[in-house]
Amino acid sequence: MQDLAGKHIVLGLTGGIACYKSAELCRLFVKAGATVQVVMTEAAEQFITPVTMQALSGRTVYTSQWDAREPNNMPHINLSREADAIVLAPCSADFIARLVQGRSDDLLSLMCLARPMDRIPLLIAPAMNREMWAHPATQRNLMQVSADGATVLGVGSGWQACGETGDGRMLEPAQLLEDITAFFQPKLLAGQKVLVTAGPTFEALDPIRGITNHSSGKMGFAIARAAREAGAEVTLVAGPVHLPTPRGVTRVDVLSAQEMLEATTRAAQSASIFVATAAVADWRPATHSDQKIKKDGSGKTPVLNFVENADILLTVAKSERAQAKKLFCVGFAAESENLVEHAKAKRERKGIPLLVGNIGPLTFGQDDNALLLVDAKGVRELPRASKLTLARELMTEIAARLPDWRV
Ligand code: CTP
Repeated sequence: MQDLAGKHIVLGLTGGIACYKSAELCRLFVKAGATVQVVMTEAAEQFITPVTMQALSGRTVYTSQWDAREPNNMPHINLSREADAIVLAPCSADFIARLVQGRSDDLLSLMCLARPMDRIPLLIAPAMNREMWAHPATQRNLMQVSADGATVLGVGSGWQACGETGDGRMLEPAQLLEDITAFFQPKLLAGQKVLVTAGPTFEALDPIRGITNHSSGKMGFAIARAAREAGAEVTLVAGPVHLPTPRGVTRVDVLSAQEMLEATTRAAQSASIFVATAAVADWRPATHSDQKIKKDGSGKTPVLNFVENADILLTVAKSERAQAKKLFCVGFAAESENLVEHAKAKRERKGIPLLVGNIGPLTFGQDDNALLLVDAKGVRELPRASKLTLARELMTEIAARLPDWRV
């Protein structure tokens, strides 16, 4: 997806072994549609060559403030003025300290100091040994760079090149891309608490077998990500799926519809928006065998009886909080025909302000989808696009409806 189309990023590298990840980060930026101008400190050049970064960015790398290529000989001014963001990855402990002090004795620090703070954001991906990270001087400096307007993207935890294990690794390139993409999204849901259910449920028959469905969870995970990008605090109650948790989202894994009901009603007590995308099993086996159900050799097949599961969306929509208009509920309808009529009827039946319809067999497991929004005013189509694009559009639609709905 060309999430960064039209964006120009100045990627600053400082001295740290994590420079090897910056090559991949640069490639991901370019793949996402951004143009990238790399600036490296002298220390960064000890870890990776400008040749590699030039090849990946398609632009010659700047390493010196005395670079005569610029007609006015002011690369620190020219490079920072044309950027949509300056991203320092990796940003060493030393470079953070230099930012705090407003040092400007090399091109990168000079450019950061000379950037127009009101329109060119500075994002920092720290990378260092765990003791350096934990040191009060570093933590103090991080607080100061944040107070001075930079966005600190956090660090990863795990095995470090020095052989120690702990906090301070630079985030992985894919994580940085997700965070930086999120940074550029409008914060339409700032202050909201969004709760999402996603994926199938698994209704156990015995310890080995159970009943489930084809839901991949992709739409719900895209919605959780889009809500987080829009500035909301997000809880994702997920059935059994193999998808990575979107950055910054709190995930609660469940198996059965009953577990999903419990986790969802608990989280709904403080949520302000609930989006039910899960394909919850309508029925569960009436009995659960503690041991595997065995063939007895007679050729007789087991008889299965079912009981109905609670409707999670209906339960939440009927709650005091939703009725008091403190919780905006959105349902999903996967239909196989007559989408408009079924979606309208389902919205009425569930008593919710917004229902999103889609044709189930055309979307299960796919990366794209088309949606139909049904509310009290009528029907609106969101044409076929990637699930993440649709999820972002849906967040815009929800944000636009909140003020009118709450009064
Ligand atoms: N849903 C739920 N709990 C259930 C069943 C459904 O929360 N036990 C939610 C789904 O997450 C979705 C919406 O209700 O947001 C619609 O689900 P669907 O199964 O399509 O609707 P039903 O009401 O079961 O209607 P039908 O089986 O007639 O299509």
